[in-house]
Amino acid sequence: MNLKFRKKINFTRPTVNRMNITEIQKSKINSIDFDTLAFGQTFTDHMLICRYREGKWQTPEIIPYQPLTLDPSSSVFHYGQAIFEGMKAYKDDQGETWLFRPEENFKRFNRSSKRLQIPEFPESYFFEGLNKLLYLDNQWIKSGEGNSLYIRPVVFASQASVQASAANEYIFMIICAPVKSYYSGSEINVVIAEEYSRAANGGVGFAKAAGNYAAQFYPTTQALKNGFQQIIWTDADTHEYLEEAGTMNVFFRINNTLITTPTSDRILDGITRKSIIDLAKHKGIAVEERPIKVAELKEAHKAGTLQEVFGTGTAVVVLPINSFSHGGETFSLPKETPVANELKNSLLAIQYNQSEDPFNWRRAIV
Ligand code: COI
Repeated sequence: MNLKFRKKINFTRPTVNRMNITEIQKSKINSIDFDTLAFGQTFTDHMLICRYREGKWQTPEIIPYQPLTLDPSSSVFHYGQAIFEGMKAYKDDQGETWLFRPEENFKRFNRSSKRLQIPEFPESYFFEGLNKLLYLDNQWIKSGEGNSLYIRPVVFASQASVQASAANEYIFMIICAPVKSYYSGSEINVVIAEEYSRAANGGVGFAKAAGNYAAQFYPTTQALKNGFQQIIWTDADTHEYLEEAGTMNVFFRINNTLITTPTSDRILDGITRKSIIDLAKHKGIAVEERPIKVAELKEAHKAGTLQEVFGTGTAVVVLPINSFSHGGETFSLPKETPVANELKNSLLAIQYNQSEDPFNWRRAIV
């Protein structure tokens, strides 16, 4: 046991009374090929479910992973009142399981809920339920490079009603998927948005609202048809400022400085984003959180000072971008991405319990 890096945090906060656990009869794990997992398409044996009705969250339950039965009028189908989170659990070489900054996901979950008029979820239910779920499905978390368990907490309006107002019934769930990498291809070429927008001032861009993602599917499918894996979103007013890259926050390395757009009501307060900022500063890399224009990016490319562009997110961790396109012109980026690689490796080493954790980000499952 690698005791050096072992900082165990016990999640057993005020206990959830009588949490019902129904275990599966027979695990399906032996039918899964863990070497060829497509992201988010294979799920573990169990799920957590908790219903909100009569003004309060009921006792959470762990049940075998299974389909739900919902009324066709359930509010979420009609008005999209739903938000989610994305977290990962990692297993180290000693078989211990770790979460990365889960408190940040929990806080963001409730910030997103609040904006969508969804009742906030109790912290003890969240962590105790998650802890128990990861305990039951622990063999689904594989150690070794590239392996992790993607954890998806989600909440949606389940009230049977097409009235266009906040629902009075909700379902919270946590489902888990063993994953490897998010993108299967080796090249990430992006196009900078000139027509469509992801978020507007005063809107829900900062929240992990389901609809934020749905609204990206049409423009992203168009982009894919044109050979781009993602879109770099720009501000809705002028399309002059760079904001996010698909499901990721985005960093530009110009003249040895990392630049990323500041968080706002349009930008997701990415946990990987803020970890990368802290890690970079810790390593003495200059970081600027400031608005950055498409014009500045193109000028830096022309001047030869644009060194790297990369996205960050829970699913991808750190993902170097190979080229960007704007105004019909394509700009290739340097093949070498030393800063993205260094930051990614340092972050993964913390996540897999292979290095010191100077920021106290890692949490062990009990
Ligand atoms: C994340 O990376 O945090 C995500 O939420 C990605 C997800 C939409 C697949």
